[in-house]
Amino acid sequence: MSLISNNEIFGLDISAGAIRLVSLKKKGKKIVINSFNELNLPAGIITNGEIVNEDKFISGVKDLVKNSKGDKIKTKNVITVLPETKTFIKVINVSFLGEGDAKRMPELVNEEIVNQIPLALDEIYFDWQVISRGQTSAEILVGAAPKKLVDSYLTIVEKCGLTPYVFEIEAAAISRALIDDKKDSQAKIIIDIGAVRTGLIVYDKGAIQFTVSLPISGNKITQTISKTLNIDLKKAEKAKLVCGLDPAKCEGAMLKILYKMIDNLTSQIKKTITFYQSNFENGKEVTEIILCGGGANFTYIDSVLSDKLKIPVKIGDPLNGKYQIKKSAIPNDKILSFTTAIGLALRAYEKKDII
Ligand SMILES: Nc1ncnc2c1ncn2[C@@H]1O[C@H](COP(=O)(O)OP(=O)(O)OP(=O)(O)O)[C@@H](O)[C@H]1O
Ligand SMILES: [Mg+2]
Repeated sequence: MSLISNNEIFGLDISAGAIRLVSLKKKGKKIVINSFNELNLPAGIITNGEIVNEDKFISGVKDLVKNSKGDKIKTKNVITVLPETKTFIKVINVSFLGEGDAKRMPELVNEEIVNQIPLALDEIYFDWQVISRGQTSAEILVGAAPKKLVDSYLTIVEKCGLTPYVFEIEAAAISRALIDDKKDSQAKIIIDIGAVRTGLIVYDKGAIQFTVSLPISGNKITQTISKTLNIDLKKAEKAKLVCGLDPAKCEGAMLKILYKMIDNLTSQIKKTITFYQSNFENGKEVTEIILCGGGANFTYIDSVLSDKLKIPVKIGDPLNGKYQIKKSAIPNDKILSFTTAIGLALRAYEKKDII
């Protein structure tokens, strides 16, 4: 049994440009968001996943917790996240000779991890679970992160006055917030369009199969608009929000300006789908793409992508994934930016104990 109740822990998302907090509580059988907050971080505090300005980061987190909207945060316990670009999560295939040999699974997994992850075994923390097992092979989901990175995050989060219980890989938190695989088990892709990076998750058979980074981001879109129209970044950001990708708005200007970027994005998505189907055993057809992250608010991005990819594209709903959240005061235009924080907070509701 878990030693800590899910009301006594909250989710803390650490992004390069913002930190976010979500705290959940149970009201009867319902899960509700009882507290949330977001604080933008100026450039230079987190660079390439590393917290380079510790003091500013620590005071930011303290401020985030203290001024949280909703109920006051009384606990110090957190479930937080590691930077997506520094972690690995994927399904690997392990072969063995038969029942007797399967006992060597931990050893066989270790051997295969070395082939699949570009870091030495003694440089990483990793965890794995069997997804499916045949007579001579098994599909294993492996999550790994560099020890140095985890240790430095642990120290800094403790310096914020918090007690980190779980450091999760972002794709796991996002999938939990968006997908209920009891409802359907089709292969899907999740695309998280953030300010500095965009991540793609291939999700199938109830598990993350692998993740990749995509060559766009909200900031890159804004920069392209700024350069093309010769306007400053502030105006470009405004134009992006006002015009969207709606062909009927602003004379379809954004579609023209971002044509190349969208083309590049769709060809990367197609390549990823082909890679999945040709390299993964039983890699199924991808039947749906789910968008999240603030960039998913870009009007018409769903229809532009589905037209090009010929796959249904929908905007994710982080309140209705593996768990249903009945009440949330997070503003509608912000909810997609909170996907990771919600998924982290929901980790407390998993059967797998927190401690
Ligand atoms: N209505 C909108 N139309 C287009 N883009 C939008 C809209 N609303 C927000 N965005 C973009 O979403 C991005 C922010 O997304 P999000 O909040 O998910 O980022 P983040 O989690 O802080 O960053 P990252 O995940 O890259 O570290 C910004 O680039 C912003 O311009
Ligand atoms: Mg993000």
